Amino acid sequence: MKVKLNHRLLTVANLVEEEKSIIDVGCDHALLSIYLVQNKHPKKVIASDIKEGPLSHAKENIRKYQVQNQIIVKLGPGIEPIEKDIDTIIISGMGGLNMIGILKYKKDTYQNVDTMILSPNSDVYQVRKEICKLGFYIENEMLVKENHIIYPVIRFQRGKRKYREIDYLYGPILLQKKDSLLVNYMKLEQEKKEKLLSLLPKKYFQKRLQLKKELKMIQKNL
Ligand SMILES: C[S@@+](CC[C@H](N)C(=O)[O-])C[C@H]1O[C@@H](n2cnc3c(N)ncnc32)[C@H](O)[C@@H]1O
Repeated sequence: MKVKLNHRLLTVANLVEEEKSIIDVGCDHALLSIYLVQNKHPKKVIASDIKEGPLSHAKENIRKYQVQNQIIVKLGPGIEPIEKDIDTIIISGMGGLNMIGILKYKKDTYQNVDTMILSPNSDVYQVRKEICKLGFYIENEMLVKENHIIYPVIRFQRGKRKYREIDYLYGPILLQKKDSLLVNYMKLEQEKKEKLLSLLPKKYFQKRLQLKKELKMIQKNL
């Protein structure tokens, strides 16, 4: 029996290459790990989570789809359950600052990792900026809309690229592609910022200046 993923997790899965050694951090139900085993011929998959509850749910699903021999289930925070031969880290469905916390202070434990696929629920500007500081660049990225919420899915590869502030904010590849969801999102941001600027008293000089700068960046890139 083949597992079915929602649109968001399918977008994450589509960014995973075949025959990789993967850790899915914060796997919860492990549906993504199961899908990868069934469709991407991975060399190895570790499904990990910080909590026992999600892991017992994961184990149930792994039994249901009969992939017990192909997925290693591990309890532990962040990338602590990683093994030396892992080359791909996936983290999705978590806050961006949590993701940064997981990856920033454990650099030495993932020296063999060349790919990270991250889909943060928030703070995507900080995620792009901090992961690039760790020696990765944005190789591909997509936006996916589910239940009226827009999620970014970003594939980072080891290497260096130069980025502008607007790239960290809205995504260099999404901007280049003029992604239709991004355009909608930027227009909404523009409206919000314009409204805020019109309401903000003149004494908040710095904040007004910042808003004007951000509005200029948006206008230039719409
Ligand atoms: C909302 S679920 C997302 C599940 C799945 N990755 C997805 O995208 O649908 C978040 C999961 O991350 C786990 N989690 C949160 N912080 C974590 C951390 N620091 N290390 C490992 N797992 C964590 C939670 O226990 C939860 O099961």
